[in-house]
Amino acid sequence: MPESANRVILFDTTLRDGEQSPGATMNLREKVHMARQLELLGVDIIEAGFAASSAGDFEAVATVAKEIREATVASLCRTVIEDIDKAAEALRHAKKSRLHLFIATSPLHMEFKLKLSPDEVLKATDQAVRHAVSCCTDVEFSCEDASRSDPDFMVEVCRTAAAAGAVTLNIPDTVGYAQPDEFAERIAYLKARIPAKVIISVHCHNDLGLAVANTLAALRAGARQAEVTVGGIGERAGNCALEELIMALAVRNPYYRLEHGIHTQQIFPSVRALSRIIGRPIPVNKPVVGANAFAHEAGIHQAGVLANPATYEIMTPESIGLSSSHIVLGKHSGKNAIRSKLEDMGYSLDNAQIDLILAAVKELADKKKDIFDEDLEALVLEEVYRLPDKYRLLHLTVQSGDGGLPPCAMLALEIDGARREHAQFGVGPIDAVFRGIAATVGRSPKLEQYAVNAITGGTDALGEVTVRISENGKSTVGRGSHPDIINASARAYLNALNRLAKMREEM
Ligand code: KIV
Ligand code: ZN
Repeated sequence: MPESANRVILFDTTLRDGEQSPGATMNLREKVHMARQLELLGVDIIEAGFAASSAGDFEAVATVAKEIREATVASLCRTVIEDIDKAAEALRHAKKSRLHLFIATSPLHMEFKLKLSPDEVLKATDQAVRHAVSCCTDVEFSCEDASRSDPDFMVEVCRTAAAAGAVTLNIPDTVGYAQPDEFAERIAYLKARIPAKVIISVHCHNDLGLAVANTLAALRAGARQAEVTVGGIGERAGNCALEELIMALAVRNPYYRLEHGIHTQQIFPSVRALSRIIGRPIPVNKPVVGANAFAHEAGIHQAGVLANPATYEIMTPESIGLSSSHIVLGKHSGKNAIRSKLEDMGYSLDNAQIDLILAAVKELADKKKDIFDEDLEALVLEEVYRLPDKYRLLHLTVQSGDGGLPPCAMLALEIDGARREHAQFGVGPIDAVFRGIAATVGRSPKLEQYAVNAITGGTDALGEVTVRISENGKSTVGRGSHPDIINASARAYLNALNRLAKMREEM
């Protein structure tokens, strides 16, 4: 990281706080892919998980730590010696690692959650940070619920952490309560009272829609690290959205005069990759990356944009990596073309995986003339990143009803390696397919949401279906893509069932 007084460090917590967002669970392969994409995007630090919280988080932190070479990899830990040791162990193979310790400092959290007195919180901070520093040179300390903490106590805890060796002090607005001017004042107050070499970080939640505004205000007041997530995913209403923060800094550079290491052309690919992974479409009105962000509906706007795009566009689609789709591959593309295209897109796959994709590209090219970046990405997620599935679709034939007979689905599934067949009537073809699958696997989840999207243009486009299902209080999303949307629907439903089965195994 270049040492400049105006350089903002981007700490990405998509894989930790982001993953805490309801329904945003990622499997290990998806986390590793997302971490690689974050590295291409240019974030400085990737918080890969909370190693001591579960075996899955430990494995995710350890695997990301082994894979990532440019960015620093961090693990969250409480101010508890066992947490710190677990996190340090998970980060053992990281080229650059950081331990991120936190303890709550607001009266409410100390009394009702921690059941600790302020003195006990100070003592825990001192002991834990000293221990962390003995395991790792890069230690960040966070005062959880800082924005509702007494400013002088917050400063005292921060000074204690800095004296014990923390090099970054993070001020979270844990419940999204702060207001920009007030939050900036808190940051300036702290800055005047801690050693100049210690970096102040902020971590803002979006409960009142102010996460980006609060982060920008804090940067103006002297904070030099921003904690963000792609798409703003995170606990409850989410965290500060990386893409919004970065484009505010870029578009209003003369106002902020701050530098960062983000390659803005990787913004859209990063948001799109995350959206595919967690099965959540990008809302059309989402700032910077939503489908309407560069769409001009009103005639007067269209005329203006045609005369000069700057009339109504403060940034270009190209600046965030949103260019018109390129035809990338076709029926005759070979293994090398596929490998090099995938490498350009940030996927580093082994030979067997490339063979799988090659076969899938050939099969798709029989049904669809042109294959675009987006199609290739969907194939990778479909063929490579899926966990070994408990339930798998072998064959599906669907007949729509003609008035005499209701629609009917005939399907063959593989369940734990054994083939099962079933035929089912339904109100419509999708209903027949979902009922047929549910009956075959012996489950009856509730379908909460169903969405279909064309990945690229044209009637032969690959259809992408996302579903959300719930069962016994657990809910999950599933994603499937195929040129036939009924087949894509079956895959999405099975993907969600596989995720539910995995959640049950992990319980
Ligand atoms: O919101 C929060 O306070 C956090 C901390 C653990 C950094 O996520
Ligand atoms: Zn948080």
